[in-house]
Amino acid sequence: MKKNLWKILLPLLLIALIAVFLSTCDAQTEPVDDTIKLGVLVYSGDDTFISNMMTSLKAIAAQYEQDTGVRINVSILDSKESQATQNDLVTRCLSLDYDVLCVNLVDRTDAARVIDQARDADVPVVFFNREPVQSDLKKWDKLYYVGADARESALLEASIIINAYRKDPGSIDMNDDGVVQYVILEGESRHQDTVIRTEVSVQTLRDSGMKLEKLDGGIANWSRNQAAALAEKYFTQYGEQIELMLCNNDDMALGVADTVERLGLDFHNIAGIDATPAGMAAVDAGKMLGTVSIGYEGQAQAIFDLAYALATNGDPAEKHTIREDRSVRVTQYVYTAETQK
Ligand code: BGC
Repeated sequence: MKKNLWKILLPLLLIALIAVFLSTCDAQTEPVDDTIKLGVLVYSGDDTFISNMMTSLKAIAAQYEQDTGVRINVSILDSKESQATQNDLVTRCLSLDYDVLCVNLVDRTDAARVIDQARDADVPVVFFNREPVQSDLKKWDKLYYVGADARESALLEASIIINAYRKDPGSIDMNDDGVVQYVILEGESRHQDTVIRTEVSVQTLRDSGMKLEKLDGGIANWSRNQAAALAEKYFTQYGEQIELMLCNNDDMALGVADTVERLGLDFHNIAGIDATPAGMAAVDAGKMLGTVSIGYEGQAQAIFDLAYALATNGDPAEKHTIREDRSVRVTQYVYTAETQK
């Protein structure tokens, strides 16, 4: 009786064992795509600050890949200053199974299409540099923002001028009339950094006790060329009355410096924000009074760390403090001839 049972059971057991063996082999030979795919959508491929940040981001990902062997594909896509184009790029990235999207919105008040599409596909989004409004950021718990605190950038930019003035008032109030005549060049009007930097830098100068007179000001959209053209207009109109050129970013400060050079003027009271390599070089060369590092490398690192954690089911808060408003803010500092001594 027992013998007969074994006669039936043994072949069945063998078949089962072979089936298990084959299925394990199958699983092992199946190609496993372990590459982490990050889709990075920039508002414009022509922006100097963003380009510097992207160079850092690619270097950080390449280094990580080298150190760990984890394959990381960072695709940087240009939205060409069109929110509609960016929305289409999001659709494309989602259809190509990107793990995380890193989005530098074109229009920071119009994040709805990006968010809705990403949420439907369950793909987390790390926004950066152009801050979505809070009601949008709070729409889903897989949305984050990486950027610099614009108020702090403005306070630091003002401190460059305040320090120079305290050390040698005549270096800023060049005509010695007790009032600093200034011109301000602003970034894009809808950008949070433009609004806050403009207001807070001027207010901080006033709060320090400095008397100010605004001669003129205009929007140069973060652009070196536009700033150079506006500066030419202002220097032609106001000449030596201008004692300070306050710029919302380094590229515009560099545009002013280009005009100063072209017109053969002796003028160096130009302040910027960003600490791009070109901005720092202009400070080193004495063409600019100073700039503020808003940490493009630190921002790139934070974007990478958050995106990597989200792509691998890790904890985004492991390496960075995530604030109540779902943002990660980077460290900033002043860059002047003094701080470089
Ligand atoms: C930077 C600018 C840059 C802009 C782009 C700002 O935070 O200071 O240089 O053009 O972001 O969004």
